[in-house]
Amino acid sequence: MSNGNTTMDKVVALCKRRGFIFQSSEIYGGIGGFWDYGPLGVELKRNIKDAWWRDMVTGHDETAQLPDAPSPYAMVGLDTTIIMHPQVWRASGHFDLFYDLFVDCKTCKGRFRADQLGTSQCPRKPSKRPGEHDDCELTEPREFNLMFKTYVGALLDPTAEAYLRPETAQGIFVNFKNVLSTSRVKVPFGIAQIGKSFRNEITPRNFIFRSREFEQMEIEFFCAPADSQAWYAYWRDRRVAWYVSLGLKSEKLQLREHGPEERAHYSCGTADIEYAFPFLPEGEFGELEGVSHRSDFDLRSHMEGKLVRDGDELVVERDEHGQPRHPGSGKDLSYFDDATQTKVVPHVIEPSAGADRTTLAFLCEAYDEDAIPDEKGVPQERVVLRLHPRIAPIKAAVFPLVKKDGQPELASEIYRTLKKRWNVFYDEKGSIGKRYRRQDESGTPYCITVDHQTTEDDTVTLRDRDTTEQTRVKIADLEGIVAERIAG
Ligand code: GAP
Repeated sequence: MSNGNTTMDKVVALCKRRGFIFQSSEIYGGIGGFWDYGPLGVELKRNIKDAWWRDMVTGHDETAQLPDAPSPYAMVGLDTTIIMHPQVWRASGHFDLFYDLFVDCKTCKGRFRADQLGTSQCPRKPSKRPGEHDDCELTEPREFNLMFKTYVGALLDPTAEAYLRPETAQGIFVNFKNVLSTSRVKVPFGIAQIGKSFRNEITPRNFIFRSREFEQMEIEFFCAPADSQAWYAYWRDRRVAWYVSLGLKSEKLQLREHGPEERAHYSCGTADIEYAFPFLPEGEFGELEGVSHRSDFDLRSHMEGKLVRDGDELVVERDEHGQPRHPGSGKDLSYFDDATQTKVVPHVIEPSAGADRTTLAFLCEAYDEDAIPDEKGVPQERVVLRLHPRIAPIKAAVFPLVKKDGQPELASEIYRTLKKRWNVFYDEKGSIGKRYRRQDESGTPYCITVDHQTTEDDTVTLRDRDTTEQTRVKIADLEGIVAERIAG
């Protein structure tokens, strides 16, 4: 299987052509950094999120010790609000620290991220980098907070200011005590959440890779401080294995451990799971997911107030009166460990993935071009999306070979049976070769064709998207065979 011919332009064109992803508000010229998922895209992204939820949460067996896990553990889910109490973002540090540095050009009025001047484009012609035209006048770098601000209620004054969450994680931390007291979980356990996050990125770019509205799939895993390094190693490797299990098998996937200088102030370990997206120069990788050891930073912040680093310690940041600069809730978010009869603030390991970047990585990995013989044996070029059957938007397509001899009726019957279980597509228009190729481009792993023989022996052909091999199977066995193949 080769996908060395993948370029970003080809993936974007396929997404538009087949209805995976559209520019938001396209008929009005679009709006930078916002994307809509079309009929196939919504299924693909939903299947990815469902696979993550199933594999990480509902399918997790808390009674068994998984390979390489330090012990058995429980997993539960949450769905918290996008707008939260504004103090959440002050205590968490986002209000003060969640910014990028930007540079304005006084001549062209362009705004650029200070750390991306070398790869950004000045809007004027001829095409140059910001600062490279003779009359460019760049300002000193300034801070720009990435949180979207809004107002809650009818008054548009500072007391009504609130923010759209820039990460789903904080909704989990502030509910730690609620989950602990209502779901009978014991440390170690994880809380998972999938939901929208918003960042007013200065330069959204590279299709859905960096957008202003996106979805995250986050786990906050609470464990005893003494076991936290072992859990960190477990989650790092477990998350890489998840991508591989769904088809990110190539050398384009890598795990990169951050050096101490690259880590956030609260982190005692961070590793990025990265993918060599085709928009990047050869040899460069982009972040798909970050796995961080966040120590007790978050729970303590929401108890005591915003923390800052003082040598090896995290201490409450204080104002000129000695009071916490951004107070926490004052609620006790510690955990009483029955085994050791001690009270501890658990440490947190956070695997934080982007659903949109994951979708993009699966699309890029799956994109391929090859040539297959048509009905007359003449090689025809095709574009094929070799998506893992579990995440493919359409699991199977059902065709009558011809629109007569009872074939459409038989094919409809098969379609209705399979439709009860999966997203299945029925098509009787166009030559059979064209119908196959349309499904190949959509990533449909199986095509089922009713032909003359079907009326004689109750068999159909089952075509495999990747090999194009066709096997004859009994209609009675079809559902079981497709189920087996999807499960892999
Ligand atoms: N709670 C930790 C956190 O939010 P992050 O590294 O800022 O960490 C986690 O974000 C993941 O969210 C990233 O690895 C990426 O997949 C996704 N993500 C972050 N910003 C994004 C953006 N502007 N557009 C699309 N995905 C984004």
